Amino acid sequence: MTYSFTSFLCAPDSQSEITQITDNQIIATDNTSYLLIDGIPVMLKKEWMEKENATVFFENFYQSTEEPWEYSERAAELLRHDYVVEQVANFSKLLGRKAVILDIGCSLGHITARLHPYAELLVGMDISITAIQKARQHCLQAIAGQNNPYQFVVGSATELPFKSNFFDMVVASDGLHGWHLSDNLQVRVVKEIYRVMKPVSYAIFTDYLHPRLHAKIEPTLCNVPWHIDRIELLYDRLWYRFESLLKTFRHRGWAQKALANKSFALFLKHLAKKMGKSQSKHIAAIVHKK
Ligand SMILES: C[S@@+](CC[C@H](N)C(=O)[O-])C[C@H]1O[C@@H](n2cnc3c(N)ncnc32)[C@H](O)[C@@H]1O
Repeated sequence: MTYSFTSFLCAPDSQSEITQITDNQIIATDNTSYLLIDGIPVMLKKEWMEKENATVFFENFYQSTEEPWEYSERAAELLRHDYVVEQVANFSKLLGRKAVILDIGCSLGHITARLHPYAELLVGMDISITAIQKARQHCLQAIAGQNNPYQFVVGSATELPFKSNFFDMVVASDGLHGWHLSDNLQVRVVKEIYRVMKPVSYAIFTDYLHPRLHAKIEPTLCNVPWHIDRIELLYDRLWYRFESLLKTFRHRGWAQKALANKSFALFLKHLAKKMGKSQSKHIAAIVHKK
C-alpha cells in the first residue's frame, strides 16, 4: 500500500487537512503553508523556524557534527537501540501484522533503519532537516531495493503534523527529556503521541536521566489514559562511567574499540544490575492504548 502525504499529514497544532501540494509547498485548509524541501515536508510553523531555540539548536548541531552523540561507536547506545528494536518486534507479534510506525526524533535513522521488517509504513520524523536528509539516505541504503515503507518528515513532537488515530506504534527514543522541553511541553508531547495512536496501539519511550529524576517519567506519562505495561531500567551507568574514564584517550584506537565493544557493555550491565536501581542512566517505558 502506498501512502500519499495527504493520507497521513495534517497542519501542526490546528490539525487542518492538507488541501494542496505543489513542487515546493504543502498548503492546509487553515491557509498555513509548509515547505517541501527535496521531497521532505517541513511541517514546522514559520514562527517556530525563526524563533524556536530547540529547532535552531538541533539543526546547528547536525550541520556542525557528522554524527551527534556518536551512536554507532558507543556500545551502551548500540545496546539501547537493540532494546528498542526488540520492543517493536514484540509489538509486531502482538499486532500480528505489519504496522504503521512513527519514529519521533529519529536522528540519522539508526533505529529507523532497523524497523522496516515490521512496517507497512514507517515515518521518520525529526526537528532537524539535516538529520532527516541523512536518515533518509541511511534507511534507503538499509532496504537495498526491497519494498520501501519509508516516509520522512520534519516536525516537532510538541505539535505532531499527523492525523489522529493513525499509528500502530510510536517510538520516542531518547525523547521527552532529550528534546530539552519544559515539563508542560513534555505533557503536551505525551498528549500528542496519544492523539496520533490508533485505538489499539503501542509506544516505547526511552530517556537518559540522572537516576534521581527517573521518578518523573511515570507521572508525565499518566496524563493520558493509556496503559503503562512496564517501566524498565537499562542499567548502563557503569558503562557511562567507563566512558568518562577513557575520555582523555578517546581518539586512541584501543579506547574506541573498548567503547564500541557490546560484549563488554553487556558485562557492565549485568554488574550494574546486581548493584541496584541507581546504576542506570536510561529508563524505558512501554505503553499501550486499547
Ligand atoms: C538524543 S537524539 C535521539 C535519537 C534517536 N531517537 C535515538 O534514540 O538514538 C534526539 C533527537 O530528537 C530530535 N529532536 C529534538 N527536539 C525535537 C522535537 N521537539 N521534535 C522532534 N524531534 C526532536 C533531535 O534533533 C535529535 O535528532
